[in-house]
Amino acid sequence: MLRSGLLLGHFWEFGAEEGDEVAGTPRIMTTASWPQVEENTDMATASKRQKTPEMPFVCLTDFQAQARERLSKTTWDYIEGGAGEGFTKEDNIAAFKKIRLRPRYLKDVSEVDTRTIIQGEKISAPICISPTGFHCLAWPDGEMSTARAAQAADICYITSTYASCTLEDIVATAPRGLRWFQLYVQRDRQLNKQLIQRVESLGFKALVITVDVPITGNRRHDIRNQVDLKTNLLLKDLRSPKEIDALTEVVAAVKGKIEVYLDGGIRTGNDVLKSLALGAKCVFLGRPILWGLACKGERGVEEVLNILKNEFHTSMTLTGCRSVAEINRDLIQFSRL
Ligand SMILES: Cc1cc2nc3c(=O)[nH]c(=O)nc-3n(C[C@H](O)[C@H](O)[C@H](O)COP(=O)(O)O)c2cc1C
Repeated sequence: MLRSGLLLGHFWEFGAEEGDEVAGTPRIMTTASWPQVEENTDMATASKRQKTPEMPFVCLTDFQAQARERLSKTTWDYIEGGAGEGFTKEDNIAAFKKIRLRPRYLKDVSEVDTRTIIQGEKISAPICISPTGFHCLAWPDGEMSTARAAQAADICYITSTYASCTLEDIVATAPRGLRWFQLYVQRDRQLNKQLIQRVESLGFKALVITVDVPITGNRRHDIRNQVDLKTNLLLKDLRSPKEIDALTEVVAAVKGKIEVYLDGGIRTGNDVLKSLALGAKCVFLGRPILWGLACKGERGVEEVLNILKNEFHTSMTLTGCRSVAEINRDLIQFSRL
């Protein structure tokens, strides 16, 4: 049975026009039909990779810096760009900096366990992968690399409606991975039904329905680069303008009846801990996964996940939390939320 929960995304600012249509397949657009990405051919990317010496990556922003070097400008702008002046994107990251954690010492933290359960499924840490489209822009076999890395890390990967690999290929390459499917609801109800039945038969365990795309955001980089995503997006949006810092309100409103997840701006283990302390059950990563993919493919995604998991482990240790269940609001020392 497909399950559903609530994923609080701070930021995603594309949109769709009412009446947009889909051609009967969840692979809405392949890299072949992606405009303005010719310069990011495998060869161009490979040649950049050869020129760049191997270096240790110690935090997620190291991957960001290297990804910028390796990707074409158009692809970089697509991954990194926000809408308008980009305030929301910046605020997502700044919001975590406003919160301080309360350290706790003299506790036995010789064993710290980061494992948790979402929607009844065990995962190695509350750090999973958000839906993002067109992974083949970052690495030749795109979502297949991402899926293998997620399976190896024993976490959940939400595959986007705009995956550039087929769903069948993604499942075949990582058959044991925990996978959810992100759905842009189509106007054609029959199409929704077919798609949902297809992902269910492929072993996707939950639907993640994106509802925050009322109109196409004014993505200045994509406009300058003449990337027209609007023609490829299908959703008539349902949600009112975004709120960033919404986590605490949402957690209070749902009163523990459903699990709440968060994505947007997670860059460190402290960010993960803060999110859980404020009531999220799990966090998800968008851009950092694409940075990892762009730098080292499957291995890069694994490294991104491992770095964050290790940082989260350290954060738990320093706040005296031996298990995820021990993380609670008392850890928040100072907040200007
Ligand atoms: C390049 C890119 C592509 C994305 N594609 C999708 C998508 O296909 N479906 C979706 O629901 N969200 C999509 N998102 C939103 C992400 O799921 C996530 O909410 C966002 O990246 C915020 O997390 P981050 O700060 O870790 O990047 C995309 C975001 C980016 C940057």
